[in-house]
Amino acid sequence: MSVGIDLVLSIIVILIVIVAVSIIWPLLLGAAWSPTSVRIVDRMLEMAEIVSGDIVYDLGSGDGRIVVEAARKYQAKGVGIEVDPLRVIWSIINVYIMRLNGSVRILWGNIFHQDISDATIVTLFLWQRTNQKLKKKLLSELKPGTRVVSYIWTFDDWIPVSADEYNRVYLYIIGEST
Ligand SMILES: C[S@@+](CC[C@H](N)C(=O)[O-])C[C@H]1O[C@@H](n2cnc3c(N)ncnc32)[C@H](O)[C@@H]1O
Repeated sequence: MSVGIDLVLSIIVILIVIVAVSIIWPLLLGAAWSPTSVRIVDRMLEMAEIVSGDIVYDLGSGDGRIVVEAARKYQAKGVGIEVDPLRVIWSIINVYIMRLNGSVRILWGNIFHQDISDATIVTLFLWQRTNQKLKKKLLSELKPGTRVVSYIWTFDDWIPVSADEYNRVYLYIIGEST
């Protein structure tokens, strides 16, 4: 009986630790999870003028909705980078259910430590201070002409080539805005 109770208690503690890590880790590294609505995802991809040859990186990809939509609707390639293990598992399952595993990759890791140099579009919904910290990486790894679309948050000193102030979506182009 006590072995049974010990096992249940251990499982509960492990679950609490996993959930705590998945909430606290993103807060420490960049931004809390908050999903972008389907309407805004469409607006972000539309402002980036996405086409089928594009390689879209979503930095902090949450449940993978942006890269899934880029592949499903526009036949682009998608790479989602996400630090929260629960959301990584969730998005990988979603990618398989949608049969997009040939065109979408979900990577578990910190966006600051992943190579993003083959991106042609980068999407972001992080925090202002995280965007600021990312500037150096974006400038050193992305090719001129790469479109960077940020929801809500901007980049100090960069000038957006277009801004949808109503929806708070901002498009930057490496080499033009920077
Ligand atoms: C506001 S949510 C946006 C999710 C998704 N991009 C969307 O638009 O629906 C921010 C996401 O970034 C992730 N995140 C924050 N900092 C990160 C980091 N340094 N590396 C990887 N993911 C990070 C969080 O776990 C969270 O899922």
